[in-house]
Amino acid sequence: MKFPNGEDFYDFTHKVTGAKIFKAQHPEFEVWSQGTHSRAGVSCADCHMPYVRTGATKVSDHWVRSPLLNINRACQVCHAVSEQELQARVETIQDRNYELLQNAGQAVDDLIKQIAKAKEEGATEKQLEKSLELQRKAQWYLDFVSSENSMGFHAPQETARILGNSANLARQGQIYALNWKEN
Ligand code: HEC
Ligand code: HEC
Repeated sequence: MKFPNGEDFYDFTHKVTGAKIFKAQHPEFEVWSQGTHSRAGVSCADCHMPYVRTGATKVSDHWVRSPLLNINRACQVCHAVSEQELQARVETIQDRNYELLQNAGQAVDDLIKQIAKAKEEGATEKQLEKSLELQRKAQWYLDFVSSENSMGFHAPQETARILGNSANLARQGQIYALNWKEN
């Protein structure tokens, strides 16, 4: 969490605001671990490397692609419902996640623009300290979900919680930046 010189860790400095930002890097494991499939003991390989038959032997598929391209082997081993129904269940989850992702993205974008405006108006770094800290948090939450590749499917309620937090923190930061003269 710290650089050798004792400074708080960050991956990059945001070009517009100067906030110290973390970069989430494909957190599929972390997200999956919060979902119902993980809780039920269903692993990555169950869905992404289903068994296939080659001649007389059964081997696991090493293509590791979208399970939706192979719903029969990836899902129907456990779920005795039609391919259309399974596809629809996934799409409902993904559409809702996408909507929340856009909302949080808009909130973070509004925060960044508000900080930029406050800087133009003469706000000091000290006066923007809270907004910058909230940008760091809100953007981390947003990135945690957007850089996860299942569009919410691996743990729908958890990604909704994270995106709700992201939007909330971004709007708080925006309020601090709007009222920078009082900080
Ligand atoms: C219950 C089944 C299931 C489990 C378990 C599961 N996934 Fe997924 N995964 C999916 C589905 C469904 C998608 C969405 C595919 C799509 O949108 O086309 C997905 C998407 C992905 C993608 C993006 C694939 C692409 O082609 O777009 C990656 C990468 C991924 N999962 C990795 C993992 C990892 C790593 C784990 C374990 C830590 C895991 N998944 C566990 C079902 C599962
Ligand atoms: C190895 C067995 C197994 C496989 C493979 C599997 N599931 Fe599941 N799935 C389960 C179990 C068990 C539950 C219920 C978990 C619980 O409530 O404890 C579940 C729950 C679900 C749910 C409801 C929970 C939620 O997150 O909304 C959906 C939707 C679902 N599965 C879709 C899929 C799809 C799509 C695939 C293929 C990509 C898949 N499952 C592959 C065992 C499996």
